[in-house]
Amino acid sequence: MLIQWCKDSACFDSRAADHVLAAHARKPDLVVALPTGRTPLGLYSQLRQRPVCFDRVRWFNLDEYVGLAPVDPLSYAYFLRDNFFRGLSVPLTNIRLLRGDAPDLLVESEDYDRAIQQAGGLDLAILGLGANGHIAFNEPGARWNRATHVVELSEQTRATNSEQQGNTVPGLGITMGIATLRSARQVLLLVSGETKRTALQALLSGYPDPQWPVTSLLDHPALMVIADEGLR
Ligand code: GLP
Repeated sequence: MLIQWCKDSACFDSRAADHVLAAHARKPDLVVALPTGRTPLGLYSQLRQRPVCFDRVRWFNLDEYVGLAPVDPLSYAYFLRDNFFRGLSVPLTNIRLLRGDAPDLLVESEDYDRAIQQAGGLDLAILGLGANGHIAFNEPGARWNRATHVVELSEQTRATNSEQQGNTVPGLGITMGIATLRSARQVLLLVSGETKRTALQALLSGYPDPQWPVTSLLDHPALMVIADEGLR
């Protein structure tokens, strides 16, 4: 695990963008998993400003709320379109986002895993961190051997996200599992904000603990953490 500590958001966002762009320079047809939340907003804005052609990149997202169509402003598909894809020259055929409104979520999960496999597996999983240590929507106690599946969101995650998104979010999510995240050839974990202090400490303690899903990344061979200097 490598950690870069950043003194301000300008440093944080540009280091994150540099990391993604370096991976893209090595492999222009990169297969990427994208997070939502406040933390990656600066990264997205940086990527949109850099003069890079993402034509060949294949994009997936980490998670979605069950029951929401991509046109729903609460959905993560909407968030990514609004904050990242809009105006970027990205072929629609290279974007596969989870459908929270799929009629059969088991079929959707299997189809999603197949799409990731057919793309050659994830090259880069970009992750945020929940205050309770969740990564994507893998909540405390989640099994570490799972691919895409449906989850019940914790009260804490629901409350935080409802407040952040200005509306009550659904109680169920569909998420890449920890096995999928761990199988990514590189992981970029973005940690910003005082509420993440304890979860980051759990990671830095070096002990794998299923109650802190982020610690499932401890033995990942290519984990880069970018974190606020204030959390050091
Ligand atoms: C949500 C997402 C996570 C994200 C987390 C942190 O729960 N499902 O993937 O990492 O929020 O969000 P933020 O960056 O806003 O703190």
